[in-house]
Amino acid sequence: MKASIHVDARHPGVKISKNLYGQFSEHLGRCIYNGLFVGEDSPIPNVRGIRSDVVKALKEARVPLLRWPGGCFADEYHWQDGIGPKENRKRMVNTNWGGVVEDNSFGTHEFMDLCEQVGCEPYINANVGSGTVREMAEWVEYLNSSGDSSVVRQRWANGRKDPFHVKYLGIGNESWGCGGNMTPEYYAGAYRQYQTFCRTYGDDKLYRIACGPSENDWHWTETLMKQAGKYMDGLTLHYYTVPNGNWKEKGSATEFDGDMFYETLKRAGRMEELISGHLAIMDRYDKDHKVQLLVDEWGTWFDVEPGTNPGFLYQQNTMRDALVASLTLDIFNRHADRLGLCCIAQIVNVLQAMVLTEGEKMVLTPTYHVFSLYADHQDADLLDCAVFADTIPGGLRQVSASASMKDGAVTLTLSNLHAEEGAEVLVNVEGMEHAAVCGRILHGDMHAMNTFDAASCVAPAEFTDFSLTQRGLLVKLPACSVAALTFRA
Ligand code: AHR
Repeated sequence: MKASIHVDARHPGVKISKNLYGQFSEHLGRCIYNGLFVGEDSPIPNVRGIRSDVVKALKEARVPLLRWPGGCFADEYHWQDGIGPKENRKRMVNTNWGGVVEDNSFGTHEFMDLCEQVGCEPYINANVGSGTVREMAEWVEYLNSSGDSSVVRQRWANGRKDPFHVKYLGIGNESWGCGGNMTPEYYAGAYRQYQTFCRTYGDDKLYRIACGPSENDWHWTETLMKQAGKYMDGLTLHYYTVPNGNWKEKGSATEFDGDMFYETLKRAGRMEELISGHLAIMDRYDKDHKVQLLVDEWGTWFDVEPGTNPGFLYQQNTMRDALVASLTLDIFNRHADRLGLCCIAQIVNVLQAMVLTEGEKMVLTPTYHVFSLYADHQDADLLDCAVFADTIPGGLRQVSASASMKDGAVTLTLSNLHAEEGAEVLVNVEGMEHAAVCGRILHGDMHAMNTFDAASCVAPAEFTDFSLTQRGLLVKLPACSVAALTFRA
C-alpha cells in the first residue's frame, strides 16, 4: 500500500501540552499497592515505599501528570483517613474494586512523594458522591495553603511545611454513575456549590475540573456547560475502547482474530468524533474557549487475565494496544488547541497499563513504548500534517500520523494500522527539505507482547528503512508498527 504525508514545518501551530500524555492511578487492584507502592519494609527496592524500578521507568517515559485516587474510588475516599501515622490510619473495604481491605497506607503525602519522585504534576480527584463540601475545601487547604490554620498545622505535623502547590482539582468522578448516579442537572448544582469553597491559595490558581460525560452523552455536556460552564476550567470525557462494544464479554486482551483487531482500532478511532462532538456543544456556551476538554480516562478495556480477580481489571497488553495508543495520541495532538490534559487508564497493572509488575519483576508494555516514542511531542508546537492513505477494514486510514516542532527539530509519529501489509509512505516536510533524519520503531505481530518471562519481545529499535527520493522521503513501514522520525535542519 502506498500512502503520503505532507507536513508543514513553516507555520508552527499551538503548543501540544505535555499533559495530554498524562496518566491515571487508582486504588484499584494492584495499581497503587504492589504496582507503585510496596512499603518501606519491602525487599523490592523502594524510596519511602515507592518502587524504584517503576519510578525510573515512568521518569524515562517523561510522564508529565498523574491523576489520583480514582476513578470510582475517589467518591468513597476520605482524605483524612490517609494522613498521619500509618498505624493510626483508618481501614476500609474498597467496595468498588474487589472488596479488599484498604489500609490507607498510601495517602496524600505518599502520592505527592510519588509525583515528586517521578517529576510529574499531581491531579487530585476529590469526593463529591459521599463527601462533603467542607471535606473537599479542607483537602485543598491542606494541600495548598500556607496560612496558620488548624488544617495547615496538621500538614506541618505530618512533616510537610511548604504547600504542595496542587493545581488540578477534579470535583467528583463519573457523577452520572459510580460517583453518585446523579442527573446532569443535580450534579451541575452540586458542582457549583463544591467548587465555590475550593479556594485558590497564594499564586497557585486552582484549575477546577467538572465531571463530564461518558462517551456520547451529549445531553450531559450540554447541561453542564449551560448551568455551570462559567465556573469550570475543564470538563472531563471518559471513553474506553471495548473491542466489541459488549461490556459483559469484552473479549481477551491477547487472543483475538483479525476482525476483532480492526474492530478495536475502529472503536478507538471514535475518539475523534467524541472530542469533536463535545467541543461543538461546548463552543455554544463558551465562545472564548475558556473551558478545556479533558479526556482523563481512556484506553482499552478487555476481560481480565484468566485466573485474576475480576475486580482488579488486570489485562495484558499487545501491539494492538500500542496502535490504539498511537492512534489516540495522534487524535489528541490534532486537538491540542482545546484539550487541557488526558490520562490513559491506568498507569500500572490496570487496564491499558504502561507497566506490569509481578512481585519484584516489572515489564514495560507496548503502550509504554508508544508513549516513549511520542515523548518529543510534549510541549512542542503542532504542525499541520495531512495523511493520504487507503482504508483498512472498519474504515480508518491505514496510516495515522501527527507532527510537531520543538527547538528547530520536527517529530513525525506515524503508524501502520494494517495487521499484515506493509506501507510505503512518501513523506514531505515543507521547510525541512534538507534535514537529517533519524528514527525509532516499534513493531511486531498484532499479538506480540511482553511477559515476565520474555520482557523485551516488543521494544523500540533504531529505524532506518527510509531513503530520500526526488519526490520526498520514502518510508517503508512494516505491518503493525509505530515509528517516530526526527528531522533536524
Ligand atoms: O478505570 C476504571 C474505572 O473506569 C474508573 O474507576 C471509573 O472512573 C471508570 O468507570
